[in-house]
Amino acid sequence: MCGIVGYLGDGNVYDILIKGLHRLEYRGYDSAGVALVGNDGKINIFKTKGKVSNLEAFCADKNLESKVGIAHTRWATHGEPSDTNAHPHFSEDGNIAIVHNGTIENYKLLKDALEQHGCKFHSETDTEVLAQLIEYIRVTNNCSLLSAVRQALHQVVGAYAIAVLEKNNPDTIIAARQSSPLVIGIGENEYFLASDASPFVEYTKSCVYLKDGEIAEIRRGEPLKITNLANEEAEIDVTKLEMSISQLEKGGYPHFMLKEIFEQPSTLRDCIRGRVVADGTHININGVNDNKEVFLNAKRIVIVACGTSWHAGLLGKYLLQDMCRIPVVVEYASEFRYSNPVITPDDVVIAISQSGETADTLAAIQIAKKAGAFVFGISNVVGSSIPRETYSGCYIHVGPEIGVASTKAFTGQVMVLTLLSLAIAQLRGTMDEETIAKVGKSILKIPSYVKKVLKLNEQIERLSLIFTYARNFLYLGRGYSYPVALEGALKLKEISYIHAEGYPAAEMKHGPIALIDQEMPTVIIAPQDHLYDKIVSNVQQVKARGGKIVAIVNEGDTVIRNLADHVLEVPEMPECLTPIITSIPLQLLSYYIAINKGKDVDMPRNLAKSVTVE
Ligand code: AGP
Ligand code: GLU
Repeated sequence: MCGIVGYLGDGNVYDILIKGLHRLEYRGYDSAGVALVGNDGKINIFKTKGKVSNLEAFCADKNLESKVGIAHTRWATHGEPSDTNAHPHFSEDGNIAIVHNGTIENYKLLKDALEQHGCKFHSETDTEVLAQLIEYIRVTNNCSLLSAVRQALHQVVGAYAIAVLEKNNPDTIIAARQSSPLVIGIGENEYFLASDASPFVEYTKSCVYLKDGEIAEIRRGEPLKITNLANEEAEIDVTKLEMSISQLEKGGYPHFMLKEIFEQPSTLRDCIRGRVVADGTHININGVNDNKEVFLNAKRIVIVACGTSWHAGLLGKYLLQDMCRIPVVVEYASEFRYSNPVITPDDVVIAISQSGETADTLAAIQIAKKAGAFVFGISNVVGSSIPRETYSGCYIHVGPEIGVASTKAFTGQVMVLTLLSLAIAQLRGTMDEETIAKVGKSILKIPSYVKKVLKLNEQIERLSLIFTYARNFLYLGRGYSYPVALEGALKLKEISYIHAEGYPAAEMKHGPIALIDQEMPTVIIAPQDHLYDKIVSNVQQVKARGGKIVAIVNEGDTVIRNLADHVLEVPEMPECLTPIITSIPLQLLSYYIAINKGKDVDMPRNLAKSVTVE
């Protein structure tokens, strides 16, 4: 988490940095700050607790003239959100300023050693240790900033993306990364630096993604130079960005989350494009075509992911098992990495991540690679770490997702997992052509069906008013609707702060049924699938205890309509495609409940979009 921006050029440094921070605010919003090298050669740091808008207010009467600067928006890991713990951090002598994304695991050890050498610390952060260490080495060894950064990084254990400024060397930024992302934008006589490309997309489309263990020297009037920790020159691989500026704006919607929910007909169309061919009769996934032997011989599939991506992964299990008859296990990446997992070269490991930067998922990938498994990535952010660390993969192509609560990325991930399952089934001959064509044709209709579901918007907005003050919610589903229930509950808790639990509907009677009373609404996902009659019984069990029921049903449903207090009707689809359709009303329900409660849906408290720390 944390967003970093840097700029060196003739543009308005402060404006570029602030605009960049706003774009990266999804990564954390505990505090924000800038370090600017002023015309007098001094580094001025302005920083304050809270969002970037607080920083702007704080800077309103300051002298912001500058030609070089770095900036930061924080998601605190070491030390509470405060003005003092906000980045950038100075070295004791004020010669260098640093911004950092990541965590320095051995910071305490380093701090103790530096204190013994007389260094005084002002903040509780691990980042300040890095600032002091670099300057201590620079002064003691009388070396350049670049060399001091390199020597310091040799002593550091942990994750970092850093940008460093030096007072005595004002036309330079030194940047480095290990595990946290960093990308350098190359314009005409100007350089940009950021955690992702969004801060500079309107200035340049040329960029270089820094790799782990690399250090970049950005100097005015000189070509970019990249070396590694062993001081060997690295190749500079310039990428052309495909992102456009309109994708980063709200486009008339009050929040990114609502915009992203409403984008789903087109994002799903983009996700499907070129992958469902020959009128729906054939599924074309390059990552499968290019690795036929791997998918033909796979004995097991292991899915690793976190949060919403884990929910998509759970749906992947149902899809892959149903269609391909391969055993599948789904693991939280954070548990997998420390569970001494049994992985063999016969396994295919699928890592799912919207951001492509989640630290736990990246660690799980490394373990799977070491064990000899074939690792396949499903990501949204082109050029992010997960697509680069996996052997093959598939982008979901839903465009930048900025709202912290994942919506369009979830449906994109589920769509890709559906297509992947069909492609593998086609290859292994586990589904007949007729059934593949039936599902394929229905997939082509998904964008228009989603459009229809979005017409429930006003009904859901009205319905949300009834539940604004509920303190707990239960979400129930069975089969394909069980992960949808988990995802619905997560959406509600993360943006409205109402406690919500997702549960397999039949498990309810083994415990959670004790919670049901008139005060506890239950959302039941009950499309017409092979478990419909079973879930009707579960609805009756809730009803019998006086629970209030909101049911997501198919158009024309009569049985549950008579039992539930409120129904939301969605069009019928083949069973394997229902999750995409049924999850959308749940996204809208949580959005409106959070709005009614006056919550900041795009930047919910304590959360960050990209979790690049453990
Ligand atoms: C989604 O609404 C969440 N904010 C969160 O659970 C997220 O899905 C999780 O952090 C994983 O992120 P990733 O997909 O970028 O790896
Ligand atoms: N560890 C640093 C801090 O707490 C950076 C946090 C992060 O990147 O999430 O300030």
